[in-house]
Amino acid sequence: MPLARSLSVTSLSGLEEWDEEFDLEDAVLFEIAWEVANKVGGIYTVIQTKARLTSEEWGENYFLVGPYVESNVRTQVELIEPTNPALKRTIDKMNSSGCKVYFGRWLIEGSPYVVLIDVGFTAWSLDTWKSELWELCDIGVPWFDREANDAVLFGFLTAWLLGEYAAQSEEPPHIVAHFHEWLAGLGLVLCRHRQLPVATIFTTHATLLGRYLCAGNVDFYNKLANFNVDKEAGDRQIYHRYCLERAAAHCAHVFTTVSQITAIEAEHLLKRKPDIVTPNGLNVKKFSAVHEFQNLHAQSKNRIQEFVRGHFYGHLDFNLDKCLFLFIAGRYEFSNKGADIFLEALARLNYLLRVSVLRWFDVTTLKGQAVRKQLWDTAQTVKERFGKKLYESLLVGQLPDVSKMLDKEDFTIMKRAIFATQRQCQPPICTHNMLEDSSDPILNCVRRIGLFNSSADRVKIIFHPEFLSSTSPLLPMDYEEFVRGCHLGVFPSYYEPWGYTPAECTVMGIPSISTNLSGFGCFMEEHIADPSAYGIYILDRRFRGVDESCNQLTSFLFQFCKQSRRQRIIQRNRTERLSDLLDWRYLGRYYISARHMALAKAFPDTYYYELNEPTSTSGFRYPRPASVPPSPSLSRHSSPHHSEAEDNDEEERYDEDLEAEKDRVNIRQPYALPFKNKSAV
Ligand code: UDP
Ligand code: G6P
Ligand code: GLC
Repeated sequence: MPLARSLSVTSLSGLEEWDEEFDLEDAVLFEIAWEVANKVGGIYTVIQTKARLTSEEWGENYFLVGPYVESNVRTQVELIEPTNPALKRTIDKMNSSGCKVYFGRWLIEGSPYVVLIDVGFTAWSLDTWKSELWELCDIGVPWFDREANDAVLFGFLTAWLLGEYAAQSEEPPHIVAHFHEWLAGLGLVLCRHRQLPVATIFTTHATLLGRYLCAGNVDFYNKLANFNVDKEAGDRQIYHRYCLERAAAHCAHVFTTVSQITAIEAEHLLKRKPDIVTPNGLNVKKFSAVHEFQNLHAQSKNRIQEFVRGHFYGHLDFNLDKCLFLFIAGRYEFSNKGADIFLEALARLNYLLRVSVLRWFDVTTLKGQAVRKQLWDTAQTVKERFGKKLYESLLVGQLPDVSKMLDKEDFTIMKRAIFATQRQCQPPICTHNMLEDSSDPILNCVRRIGLFNSSADRVKIIFHPEFLSSTSPLLPMDYEEFVRGCHLGVFPSYYEPWGYTPAECTVMGIPSISTNLSGFGCFMEEHIADPSAYGIYILDRRFRGVDESCNQLTSFLFQFCKQSRRQRIIQRNRTERLSDLLDWRYLGRYYISARHMALAKAFPDTYYYELNEPTSTSGFRYPRPASVPPSPSLSRHSSPHHSEAEDNDEEERYDEDLEAEKDRVNIRQPYALPFKNKSAV
């Protein structure tokens, strides 16, 4: 008799409690993605941050399936013997048939089990499997498309794994297999074709065609309904990939995507309307001290300041304490991610700040001050070294030999300081030597707009063309630390099914700019009455032309720059208060629903799905903040010309806290409503 297990989720830190009973019977969940323990982009973040919640729900019956990548395994996975007997038999059988399958625990929150498959090891099967694929569904994968070849290997291997698991189980199992994105989609198609006892879910985090079309010069959203999808995919040489993706979407018992906007896109481009939208959450960590995140901001900002000091050495003609750090980050998709309009808006902002009456300090004077400070610091260092030598001499009862008080190293330090302050060339734009410098889209754009970090520029640029890492000798910070130290994340994407980067800013209390063409932006617009009051600026890229959007972006940036420190602190407090909205503890409900739906469709004799489970995220709205006027221009300090005394952080944060607590009480009740749910079995 299978063990009856149930899910009960209660006491969600102040949000209205809800209980749910869904008897999962003996079901096991496999979640399959190329990004399992393999960092590529946002899908990794989905899997990695959701693991804790899904592990809590499924316990020992939850297995993530991904590719075996040795360097990842070395740093993230503890390899162990499979705990589940049927799975152990499955893996042993596969390994004795020419595969290399590993089992372990992924060392992240929730410590989920992972099954990692070395696709390269089974490359000998590629041609056979490709012909099988061709026989089966007329999809021909060209030899030169390495990613698609991996998708074929991964697909056949995951279907093999699931089929073998079903065969090795003593009782007929109830398997849920959740496949993410086209790279993993073929496994799903094969499960259905082989009629395995598997309830299948396919989540697409973007459509291939959407991403490609948007990256070209196409009026994507207005033409969405009219694309000749086969031709467009063929023209871009991605027809085989597109077919794999579309087949997975159509074969799935349940098809989901990450936002409403991508649901519409999928309906037009993949020709199936998603059954449910599963928005992306985060694993929100609350600090016991409410202001901890503000302190972290200050600490991380100090580290960024150190980096900037080094980058601009000899040209530190601006006051670092008054410097605001704006950033964009993510995979290098120049126009999809909106790097194009960000750079253009920075050029316009530079102009506005240069001509603005709000000029805070005179550049030439400041430059002099900066040089003076650098020389002063050097003098202090040499003085300390001098003092130490003097002291050591006195300690042994001798008067110092003045000619030896300054040694070679002291002179080197002093010469370096003099040279540094006389640097002739401009501070660099890019932190790395780029291989394709002359064709790089960002560098070319910088050349065109002429933002070269000259001393007259109020907006300076640093391009770090690599994901951040705490082991980098240049900027030894991980991405999270970096975000915390910045003031504003700018993500003016044109194509962005969800967009984790602004969501991550939000839970860290850092304001951000996103767009009404991103899943995140639309979600926030839907659920917050006045997003900008909370530091969530949503740029209109849907109903405006590029130039107009760019002007709006410039205006957001300019307004942001006009805020006082006090206003920024208030705004960060507000931004951070939205964290709950993005927590998996609530958004995970949509994944749960998708699984219930799939189980009920695949095993109608055992499972039953009630339609009143949430399939849409609509139904609640965050009110405007009750107290301080939201717009900087209405707030007490409407210009940056306020005294330092007014930057009284402690007092302000205290007031804002009381206000925050009032708001918390107000917002929780309506938020929980859509999740009120009955038993589904
Ligand atoms: N990211 C990172 N290091 C960086 C820049 C970005 O780890 O230097 C991560 C970021 O935390 C986010 C992901 O990359 O989780 C990007 O996800 P998003 O959904 O914004 O975009 P995608 O790349 O999936 O299109
Ligand atoms: C946090 C810290 C404050 C600091 C402030 C700087 O709130 O707790 O001590 O003054 O950040 O804010 P800013 O927006 O100027 O980086
Ligand atoms: C995709 C999308 C991104 C989304 C991520 C996770 O890579 O480009 O917008 O946040 O998947 O769903």
